Formats: sequence, C-alpha cells, structure tokens
Amino acid sequence: MTAGGDTQTIAYGDFQTPDDLARAATALLRQIGIAPATVIEPSCGKGAFLAAAAGTFRTARLLGADINAGYIDIARGRVPQAELRVADFFEMPWAEALGSLPQPWLILGNPPWVTVSGLGAIGSANAPARQNAEGWRGIDAITGRSNFDISEWMLREYLGWLDGQRGAIAVLCKTMVARKVLTAAWKIGAPIARARLYRIDAAAHFDAAVDAGLLVIEAAGRADATVCEVFDDFAAERPRSAFGLVDGLAVADVAAFMRNRELFTADIEDRWRSGIKHDCSAVMELRRSKDGFVNGLGEQIALEPKLVFPLLKSADLANGRFDTGRVMLVPQMTVCEDTAQLAQTAPVTWEYLTRHAPRMAARKSSIYRDKPAFSIFGVGSYSFTPWKVAISGLYKRLTFTAIGPIEGRPVVFDDTVSFLACASEDEARHIADLLNAPRAQEFLNAMIFWTDKRPITTGLLRRLSLKTLRTTT
Ligand SMILES: C[S@@+](CC[C@H](N)C(=O)[O-])C[C@H]1O[C@@H](n2cnc3c(N)ncnc32)[C@H](O)[C@@H]1O
Repeated sequence: MTAGGDTQTIAYGDFQTPDDLARAATALLRQIGIAPATVIEPSCGKGAFLAAAAGTFRTARLLGADINAGYIDIARGRVPQAELRVADFFEMPWAEALGSLPQPWLILGNPPWVTVSGLGAIGSANAPARQNAEGWRGIDAITGRSNFDISEWMLREYLGWLDGQRGAIAVLCKTMVARKVLTAAWKIGAPIARARLYRIDAAAHFDAAVDAGLLVIEAAGRADATVCEVFDDFAAERPRSAFGLVDGLAVADVAAFMRNRELFTADIEDRWRSGIKHDCSAVMELRRSKDGFVNGLGEQIALEPKLVFPLLKSADLANGRFDTGRVMLVPQMTVCEDTAQLAQTAPVTWEYLTRHAPRMAARKSSIYRDKPAFSIFGVGSYSFTPWKVAISGLYKRLTFTAIGPIEGRPVVFDDTVSFLACASEDEARHIADLLNAPRAQEFLNAMIFWTDKRPITTGLLRRLSLKTLRTTT
C-alpha cells in the first residue's frame, strides 16, 4: 500500500501497514518473548496492527486511537474487542488513559511518517504544541534542529510512559528516527534493557525510499547496554551489527569501532575543513569561456584572475571529474576581510559584485548579517594551499582524493566537501593512501551513518587521529 501524495495523506504521515507485515511483526515479537497484558496503539489507523495483535496475543487487552474517525470505524469493524477512540495524539490525556491498564504494556504500531518541514510545506499543524513539552523527550530537546520527524517526538513520549513501568515498544520507523531517539535516551540513562531493529523493505511495503525497520525497545528498571542490535530482516537469527553510544559518541557499528579504537581522538588534531560557503552560486560559480567567464545567469563577464580559483564540487569528487572548467570567485582571503578595498585592488570584480549586490544581499542565512558586503565563509589560508586531501560529504562513497593545483592555481571546494590542507604533494598522497586503506576505512565506516543526508562531516573526520594512523601503520 502506498501513501499517495495528497495533502491529507502527507499531513498525517498516513502509510497504512499491510496486514501481512503487521502479522509478521507480532509473530516476531512473540517469538522473541514479548508477552503483553495490554497492547496500546496510539495512531492505529485502520487497525492492521491491532488485528494482528488480537491474533497473536489472544489474552491481551487492546487499546487504540487515531485522529481519523473513518479509520477508527474501519478498525472497529476489524477488531471489535479493542477499546478504540478518535483522538489527536497531541491532545489525548495519555497518563490518565494508561494509568490503570494491566502490565506489561506493548506500545505497538506505525507512527506517522512525516517531518515538521513536510508539514510546513503543506501548511499543516499536525505537530506537538511547542510550548507544551519539556525536558529531554520534549520538543525543546529536538527543535534545536530545524527539522525532525513527528514519530521521533511520539517515540520519546512512549519511552516516557514506560519510565518506572513494565513493557516494551515495537514500532515501524525510519532507521534514522530509531537512532536519534535511542541516542537521546541513552545519553540520559533512560531505562532501556534491550533495543533491536529488524530492517524492513520500505520500498516494497510502503513505496517509500527510506531505510526503515521494526524497532523493539524493552524497558527496564535501569539502563543496561547502550547498543541496538540490527537484524537484516524479521527472519534473521543473528544481528548483522549493532549501533550504539560509546563514551558519549554515537557509533554506527560498535564492534568495528572497538576493533580500531586506538584511532579515535577526542582532541582536534587534524584540521579538516568544509569548502567555501557563499549561498549565491549564480554569481559566485562560473565557467571558463573563450573571453573570460560565464556566470550562472548566463552573463559573459570579465574578472581579475587573481580572485578566481578552480572549483570542485561534491559530485566532481565522487565521480572522479577533476578538470571541469568550473571556477569560483573568491572575494575574501579570510573570513570577514573588508571587501571595500576591492574597488581599488580589483575594480572589474568590484563592479561585477556591485551590479549583483541585491542578489548577494538577499542571501537568507543569518551568518551574512552585519558582515562586509559579498562575504563568504569557510575561507582562510587553508583554502589556498596547493595540495589537499578531499572527500565529498554527500555521496555514499568513502574515497579520499589528493587534489593538486589546476593550471597552477589551488583548487577550492564548495561547502559540501570536507578537506585537509597539506604541506606538499607527497603528504597529500600519503594521507589519501592511508585513509583509503582498510584500517582507516573500517574505523570511519564504523562511525558513519550512511542513511544520513550528509554522512561524512568534518566533525566525524576529525575523530580519526592521523598521527596515530601514521605512526602505527
Ligand atoms: C503511518 S500511519 C499508520 C497507521 C496504522 N498504525 C498502521 O500501522 O497501519 C499513521 C497513522 O497516524 C494517524 N495520525 C496522524 N496524526 C495523528 C495524530 N496527531 N493523532 C493521532 N493519530 C494520528 C494517521 O491517521 C494514520 O492512521
């Protein structure tokens, strides 16, 4: 079944679970020893999970709610023994509803698959009221980020309900949501005895191109291990790997991380940087032409060559394209350098930038506020060393490349690239070789969550001690 694309469907993250998947999930839960006295499904939709639970946990009390009255009618027809109500998750007095229910509880189901920015895009208010929630599981804890999944907020609520109680949670969710919720919970020592994630084929079941699974969290009196075992599918007897929290660090593969632990450093030894941020590619990114340059607006222009540098972007690095003819206008040599002097030192470029001042001034990010006109970020002496080691932050490829000058000019990168400025060609080649060798690859892979939008960051690269790698390889 698919969620389709209409506004209502998106607002309510409405991907109804196919019956066979719900049945397979409850069968798996029974097999791993989950035996609830009450099954609670806070967004039960048409009741696929409640119906499956009724078949699997025959003596359990069933409680379901959904915001959609039509769905509750359907669920009532399917599971007449369940106590069902039409309710908005964010309004429902859950403490009251749960208070007297027999334990252990199983909080089951498939919370809405929608992000706050997805809701914003369609003008929906189906989200927690920002002022209502407090503490680690509250909205404040996750809205430091501009975007988050509604299911993430719901899962934090579920964990809060289980505090001091007996029970488990079993929900279909994005792998990324599972990780974020668990990481936050582990960090505060939430009472989790065991966590497991059984991966599902979300494309086949929900027509959704996302990494997802059945997350099973068992509550305990106190926090035990801070790992989540990951199984390839419902039939897998052994976990393929486990992600977790090691010394406060979220790690994608705990065993591989521990095997290479000596490479970890908490100090910033190696100055990995992001490329230059300008937020105005139409003006700042150009192609070489016969008579000068062509900008993103198709204008033929001239510029002082000393301010123009060969440019490589994430896709170029990922695809091994190194002579693209693309260049970047770099009007500052350091962050916040006064640009007014360009009127004297580079008058042609100054005229070009001044002509496009409205476009540059319209850049949305607040970092440009109260800064010299035409400011850029991520620029410094490190941008201009002839040799660097670089990697794309966006692509799912852990390949490091030694990059040297093009036509005698140092190469600059856009801000999706991470790079390390090197002292020489030899150093760049040696570091790239070390980073592409199995030991560093296993260590970095252990830390990388490949399902993230931007899996490779400078922060992550800085955790590998090149000093240790160089002296012990
Ligand atoms: C991903 S669907 C899953 C439905 C059902 N649990 C299943 O597994 O088939 C999400 C469900 O959440 C419901 N929902 C969305 N927002 C809600 C809210 N604020 N309160 C309660 N239910 C909500 C939708 O109506 C929809 O049925």
